[in-house]
Amino acid sequence: MDYNYSEFLIETEVPEGEVIISRTDLEGIITHANDVFSKISGYSVDELIGKPHNILRHPDMPKSAFAHMWQSIQNGETWQGYVKNMRKDGGFYWVFAEISGVHKNGELVEYKSIRSPISRAKVLEMQKKYDAIKLAEKDTIRVVHYLSYNEYQKRALHIKG
Ligand SMILES: Cc1cc2nc3c(=O)[nH]c(=O)nc-3n(C[C@H](O)[C@H](O)[C@H](O)COP(=O)(O)O)c2cc1C
Repeated sequence: MDYNYSEFLIETEVPEGEVIISRTDLEGIITHANDVFSKISGYSVDELIGKPHNILRHPDMPKSAFAHMWQSIQNGETWQGYVKNMRKDGGFYWVFAEISGVHKNGELVEYKSIRSPISRAKVLEMQKKYDAIKLAEKDTIRVVHYLSYNEYQKRALHIKG
C-alpha cells in the first residue's frame, strides 16, 4: 500500500454542522460528492467522481463492518455506523454515516450516504472496538514501535513519503 506515513497519525475533524454527502451507482462507484466531502478527504470532486468508494477505506476498519453495511443496504435497509476514513494524504477522519438505497418507481437505482461529525468520546470508543474486532478476525493489526536510528534508516528506504 502506498500511504504517506508522515501524515498517518494526523486527524482532520469534520466541523460541527457540516455534512459529507455522496452518491454511488449500485457497484459503489462514486457519482456525486459535495464540497465538504472534497475538503475533508483531500480529494477534489473530480478525483472522487468515477472512483470506487473504497478509495477512502482505512486499514483500521474491520472487513465485517462493510460486509454488514452492504447486506443491509441491499436488503433495502438504512445502515448507520461509525467509519474511520483515510484522506488522500494518508491522514484520517471519523464520521457517523447513514447509507441507504435510492428507489425510483419501486426499483433500487443507486445508493446515497450522509455523514456527520462524532464526539471525541465516540472516536476513542470506536477505535478500541474496531481494534478488538480486527484482532478477533485475525486481520492486519496496527503496531506502534520504537526503532533505533540505524534500524529506522534501513526501513525508511522501503517507505515512501
Ligand atoms: C453510498 C456508499 C458510501 C460508502 N462510503 C464509504 C466510506 O465513507 N468509507 C469506506 O471505507 N467505504 C465506504 N463505502 C463502502 C465501500 O464501497 C467498500 O465496500 C468498503 O470501503 C470496503 O472496501 P472493500 O470492499 O474493498 O473491502 C460506501 C459504499 C456506499 C454504497
